[in-house]
Amino acid sequence: MSLEHLFSPMPIGTITLSNRIIMAPLTRSRAGQPGDVPTTLNAEYYAQRASAGLIVAEATQISQQGQGYAWTPGIYTDDQEKGWKKVVDAVHTRGGKIALQLWHVGRISHHLLQASAQAPVAPSAIRAENSVSFVILPDGTPSNQPCDTPRALASAEISGLIDDYVRAAKRSLRAGFDLVEIHAANGYLLDQFLSPNSNQRIDQYGGSQENRARLLLEIVDEIAQAIGANRIGIRLSPGGVFNDMNHPQSETMTLYLAKELAQRGVAYLHIAEPDWAGGQTLSAEFRRDLRLAFPGRLIYCGGYTAEKAEAVIAAGIADAIAFGRLFLANPDLPERFRRNAPLNTPDQDTFYGGGEKGYTDYPSL
Ligand code: PHB
Repeated sequence: MSLEHLFSPMPIGTITLSNRIIMAPLTRSRAGQPGDVPTTLNAEYYAQRASAGLIVAEATQISQQGQGYAWTPGIYTDDQEKGWKKVVDAVHTRGGKIALQLWHVGRISHHLLQASAQAPVAPSAIRAENSVSFVILPDGTPSNQPCDTPRALASAEISGLIDDYVRAAKRSLRAGFDLVEIHAANGYLLDQFLSPNSNQRIDQYGGSQENRARLLLEIVDEIAQAIGANRIGIRLSPGGVFNDMNHPQSETMTLYLAKELAQRGVAYLHIAEPDWAGGQTLSAEFRRDLRLAFPGRLIYCGGYTAEKAEAVIAAGIADAIAFGRLFLANPDLPERFRRNAPLNTPDQDTFYGGGEKGYTDYPSL
């Protein structure tokens, strides 16, 4: 089968990608310690994957408060910014493009990760059931722990939170990233605001659909002021159930957001499909509606093969497709697709934490 659409260049925001095979953001939990600082090993990992049209680097906390797992990188200290610059330079040297995913986990956290062992923050003081945070226990043992009951953010704290996003976006640009992606998917803070099961606020950030979407849109507007809307992507996960999300109207919310984001001229919308975490597959009708609502660049992610990706791009439903596990295990994924070559199998045991094993030692052709 020809993969001509997958291998055609694509303008997106301020840049042009050489193909439409995107590397999805993947938590790998290998930031340098102490300080959650990207390392030369992280730079090597991303540089190996520079033949992606675009790398969306792993979810990266915008503040200590935004961290939900030990060993994930941050973008709120000078050392983290310097570490990321090494990563970006290595990818650019290989001719790649790279975005940083800006992350605040909200209630998917634990007091052991928070300043002064405080409770994590969320739209409302509602705990995420059946969800875990990854912490280092006081005796030094790394451990998955049930998420703590969060405290509700005060209305007066929202502007400071938005500032954290803007500062992180500015640091990302200073580190050399081509684009930033705002993580509003998978049950983390901004998704918690979108969904009524986690947002029961009575101020202007809760209640109606418009109110629940307000924080995300204000963050987009403020980051756009700072770096330009054409450098911003947004990731959403309609229908997602990961991290105790339950949002019966999430498709309607997504279509509302798509229209609002289109008006703002953002670079792209990135849809994490629900089925990777056990949710229902998105309907063909919803995909059609989303395409009509969002004329900008639309990226889908979730269990695609090269053939399926080519087909949805050819049909005009998507502009590009992101690959997670396949990129994790195949640093030269585009070349393997091009040659229809066999693919390395991802090793689950080395997804999170550790060193080179299962990280930079997957062979290229
Ligand atoms: C994870 O670390 O498990 C994780 C992080 C970000 C996501 C999804 C999962 O969007």
